[in-house]
Amino acid sequence: MSQIELYSVSKIYTLEDIEIRAVEEVSLKIEKGEFISIVGHSGSGKTTLLSIIGGILHPTSGTVLFEGTDIYSLNEDSLSEYRAEKIGYIFQFASLLPVLTAKENLLLPTIFSKDKRANSEKKAEEYLDMVGLKEKINAYPSQLSGGQQRRIAIARALMNDPEVILADEPTGDLDEETEAEVMDFLKRINRERGITFILVTHSSELAKDATRRIRMTQGKIIEM
Ligand SMILES: Nc1ncnc2c1ncn2[C@@H]1O[C@H](COP(=O)(O)OP(=O)(O)OP(=O)(O)O)[C@@H](O)[C@H]1O
Ligand SMILES: [Mg+2]
Repeated sequence: MSQIELYSVSKIYTLEDIEIRAVEEVSLKIEKGEFISIVGHSGSGKTTLLSIIGGILHPTSGTVLFEGTDIYSLNEDSLSEYRAEKIGYIFQFASLLPVLTAKENLLLPTIFSKDKRANSEKKAEEYLDMVGLKEKINAYPSQLSGGQQRRIAIARALMNDPEVILADEPTGDLDEETEAEVMDFLKRINRERGITFILVTHSSELAKDATRRIRMTQGKIIEM
């Protein structure tokens, strides 16, 4: 059994009577600890596929198994538990809550976890330090640059010790140097903690580091 298994997964959006086949008959097996990169043109279905794996978006058809469990046959509570405990999601677009400080944004996913508050606070400080933003701990997103907001979103995705990190162009708006730092950090987490890492990127340079590379074209995948 692989950690993640997709069988003939499709997602069809309907927009004013027009059907958009965003993901089409994708079957894929992912082993624990793999580092997979996904490249493909804009609109090829990368974010849709990631959302389906992350338990955020019900596919139109097909099956998604996590450690043998069909996640979309779970009830809403169990599906949210899957999202909260197994998955760290770094969204394509900034997703911090503007009314919360950097540290509060990191603590948000831990509200329902069994971890002690003091532990979570310590971890939040440690992760902010790891992404080089220790001094911004009490800053609000509006007081931070786009790249700094990204790094906070990356730190936040790790707070619940996920088993899988889904990263949708996590370094999209970072300068080269910060991009390299953030990628090194993510790769280290993948290697040292055996966290599965699925990276959507436009950069063939970044994709090259993966142990497995996938290209998406019009909703379909091709292994490279
Ligand atoms: N909520 C939605 N409703 C209708 N169509 C959608 C919706 N979300 C995405 N689509 C369409 O599905 C297709 C795949 O979109 P998706 O966001 O998965 O692409 P992507 O590969 O992530 O693109 P990008 O590289 O630009 O982020 C596109 O044609 C898009 O317009
Ligand atoms: Mg996308």
